[in-house]
Amino acid sequence: MNKVKILSLLFLTFCFQILKADEGMWLLQLLQEQNAIELMKKQGLKLKASQVYNPNGVSLKDAVGIFGGGCTGEVISPEGLILTNHHCGYSFIQQHSSVEHDYLTDGFWAKSRAEELPTPGLTFTFVHRIEDVTSVINDKVESGEVTLYESFTNSFLDQVAQEIYAESDLYGKKGIKPQLLPFYAGNKYYMIYKKVYSDVRMVGAPPSSIGKFGGETDNWMWPRHTGDFSIFRIYADENGEPAEYDENNKPLKSIKHLPISLKGIEEGDYAMIMGFPGSTSRYLTVSEVKERMEATNNPRIQVREERLAVLREEMDKSDKIRIQYANKFAGSSNYWKNSIGMNKAIIDNDVLGQKREQEQQFNQFAEKQNNIDYMNVIAEINGAVAQTSPLMYQLTALSEAFLSAIEFVTSPRLYREMKDAIEKNDKDAVEKQKEAFRDFYQRIHNKDYDHEVDRKIALVMFPLYAEMISAEDRPAIYSVIENEYASDYTAFINEMYDHSIFASEENLNKYLENPTIELLEKDLIYIHYTSVVNKFNELREQLEPLKNELNVLHKTYIRGLGEMKLPVPSYPDANFTIRLTYGNVKSYSPRDGVHYHYYTTTDGVLEKENPEDREFNVPAELKELIQNRDFGRYAMKNGDLPVCFLSTNDITGGNSGSPVLNAKGHLIGTAFDGNWESLSGDIVFDDDLQRCINVDIRYVLFILDKLGGCSHLIDEMTIIE
Ligand code: ARG
Repeated sequence: MNKVKILSLLFLTFCFQILKADEGMWLLQLLQEQNAIELMKKQGLKLKASQVYNPNGVSLKDAVGIFGGGCTGEVISPEGLILTNHHCGYSFIQQHSSVEHDYLTDGFWAKSRAEELPTPGLTFTFVHRIEDVTSVINDKVESGEVTLYESFTNSFLDQVAQEIYAESDLYGKKGIKPQLLPFYAGNKYYMIYKKVYSDVRMVGAPPSSIGKFGGETDNWMWPRHTGDFSIFRIYADENGEPAEYDENNKPLKSIKHLPISLKGIEEGDYAMIMGFPGSTSRYLTVSEVKERMEATNNPRIQVREERLAVLREEMDKSDKIRIQYANKFAGSSNYWKNSIGMNKAIIDNDVLGQKREQEQQFNQFAEKQNNIDYMNVIAEINGAVAQTSPLMYQLTALSEAFLSAIEFVTSPRLYREMKDAIEKNDKDAVEKQKEAFRDFYQRIHNKDYDHEVDRKIALVMFPLYAEMISAEDRPAIYSVIENEYASDYTAFINEMYDHSIFASEENLNKYLENPTIELLEKDLIYIHYTSVVNKFNELREQLEPLKNELNVLHKTYIRGLGEMKLPVPSYPDANFTIRLTYGNVKSYSPRDGVHYHYYTTTDGVLEKENPEDREFNVPAELKELIQNRDFGRYAMKNGDLPVCFLSTNDITGGNSGSPVLNAKGHLIGTAFDGNWESLSGDIVFDDDLQRCINVDIRYVLFILDKLGGCSHLIDEMTIIE
């Protein structure tokens, strides 16, 4: 082969790689530099670069934000109306629900602004400004102000963020929150100024039989028929600035809202998503992928399986408990199933094989560069992982079983302070502590907690954990159970759930009548919980130096991988910062002989209907609308009503609720899930299999309009027919 041939071949592979660009969670601030805008235009984008992202003006990013603490939402009207997923609004819908007002089951539609429900604790966060501050951090490391290890710690990054913020023109502005984060494993640093609105009200949510149709059975699966959306509204002070809830606050006058397209979609259409992917691990080594499977996913699957079984049984028995535990159940089940799917997909998609190949290529590249750091880095990562893996397994089991599954906990600090006050005979301090005890009691026994359900979970968790973890690695409470309760878990747990200070209001009051140190020290929940916390801290301390070492090694490895790939640009792992992914509407073939169409319709809702199965109930009203084919302007040309569709976008948890936009930047749907066959996607993106599952915007508007009777909301929107 001559030189020209080799060069043109190289060029071809380069073009091929960049044209197959569905993979990638791109940083808005690098779109131009990395040539992504040109590639997006080649795929069909009809917007100018400055309309997608403009550091000095209004762009798409100003209509997208963080909904609550872990999802994305988008502005869909000039008056601060927000669209997100039903599962993102779920905890807030649940918070507003009771047996009398069961919005989870029946849905909720505010018929006027006055009916929009204030939702304490809910925020909506825009990205106000992004700045490259890599040199600030590098200077501090080079001058010796911090060590390389310390440069990764949150406390250091927070401190620098505050320093930069204090000098900035945004200092002290309402709602502004600075955040400084490493990207590319610390090869770049960006400062993000966020603008946080804290008066966000609930406007509309379909019944769960629409918003969560298919439940856990269909979760992470295609074909899908879930109307996974809910609607909120941002309120602001009279100047449109963030403000705490106040009845005089006004709907936010949005600087940017997304027009909505009813024109429909076809296979191959351009589709892009802007949102906040939470976390990916695309640069792991083989050893780290194995660690994820064995030390994180496996123990998580094992613990959650048992907890979910108890919850399922208890929730089926009582409506009160069903509502109390709905959100906890969904959250736990979501990543239980994800972990199972991920481990399966890692095998099915030969992720380990792909990673092995990547490592080989990297080692060759390192040799060629004659770069000693690169030559050693994989072996050094493997060495560290050999030590972290057993600790990670223990940490996962401990936190899943005793810090998540069981909610009956206590605060050792409260005990110490009470003890102190009693020892000093300080009456005022004792009184103050009594108040603190009462407050803490309310925090445990909150509206969504049932002590008996928790006891049942504990009865399962203690023996399960003992099966998973060998005796010498368990928290000290296990010796107490062995020595003082003859290894009888039930006897110990009943004693703790019946007789400890925080077990009941009666016990608490009795203790507070005459608080003694002796009773504090033999309180079982105190002894148990302290031993769990001690074990947790012990594991964290053992892990810390290893994690520090791994941070530095990853910085080297990821820099090297990026260099190896050049001139193809790389994107950094997701870290819950704003990203853009572009691709197409597209079907897929999960296995030999099976082809999945790229969209579903309401016909499938009726096909799946099963009145016996709560996950597949269809509300009578919806059924009637479907049967009458009363779809109005939301129907496709053939008269069907679409429900969900697939696109090749690169998303993960955190992107839930993200806008799916067509070539003109008009809203065509809301992303809400990934597909089963590619759940290894957080580790390796699979070009053939990876799909993003979206609700079609026409189904959202249909439900809002015909079922919710919310034409007043639709009137606010900009609709393109
Ligand atoms: N898998 C979806 C996600 O992580 C969440 C779906 C929630 N629904 C559920 N049935 N738990 O974004």
